[in-house]
Amino acid sequence: MDPSEEALLAEQRAFYRAFAEEYDHVYAVRGSLRRLIERFDELPIGGDVLELACGTGQWTRRLAAKARSLTAVDAAAEMLEIARSRVGPDVEFVQADIFSWRPEKRYDTVFFSAWLSHIPPARLPAFWRSVAAMLTPDGRAVFIDENPRASATETVLTGEATPAVLRRLPDGSAYRVVKVFHDADALAAMLAAEGWTASVREAEQEFIIGVAHPPTP
Ligand SMILES: C[S@@+](CC[C@H](N)C(=O)[O-])C[C@H]1O[C@@H](n2cnc3c(N)ncnc32)[C@H](O)[C@@H]1O
Repeated sequence: MDPSEEALLAEQRAFYRAFAEEYDHVYAVRGSLRRLIERFDELPIGGDVLELACGTGQWTRRLAAKARSLTAVDAAAEMLEIARSRVGPDVEFVQADIFSWRPEKRYDTVFFSAWLSHIPPARLPAFWRSVAAMLTPDGRAVFIDENPRASATETVLTGEATPAVLRRLPDGSAYRVVKVFHDADALAAMLAAEGWTASVREAEQEFIIGVAHPPTP
């Protein structure tokens, strides 16, 4: 383990704990994100669903409407508390670190929004292998994230070993957060090289939407 990367990931977790109360404001003010979430029904979600990094549950409540069962994972208790208030009691919430947590069963859909960009590049191959192990053989990963156009609104840090941005909270505190703005074509090529059958497309200017089927074991 790289200690400087571990420290960055700890700072990222701390940022989201501190930001949880204000997180939904992003959805209120960012029109492109609202338009994106309104396109939820286009996504191939179904069966037993696992959501990684559920945050305040903006997507969780929509996933719940389509899933046979839904499990949602996040590291931040503060995020989970808000997410829990948005859905019925049948959604299972797990507080865990996605980099080490492994489920006891397999899922038909593994969904993650605004999570892929927070994974250090060196950890991506292991992350995708872990997602493959979470899926049933004919299951799929469905993911949403920001593409490089979204970097215009961030304070991109130079000189960090892992791509990162600086985020500030209203109280003035600042946190480094891992941020990799994935290009749709490059990501699709990377997934293909890892044995996935994937389509990744741009959406609402600043986002990507991906659907990926795991390699045959
Ligand atoms: C950008 S938010 C995305 C929330 C939600 N998926 C959405 O799209 O609105 C990133 C989430 O990742 C969670 N997170 C950060 N590091 C994590 C880790 N190591 N394990 C699990 N969750 C983590 C944060 O607590 C936060 O809720």
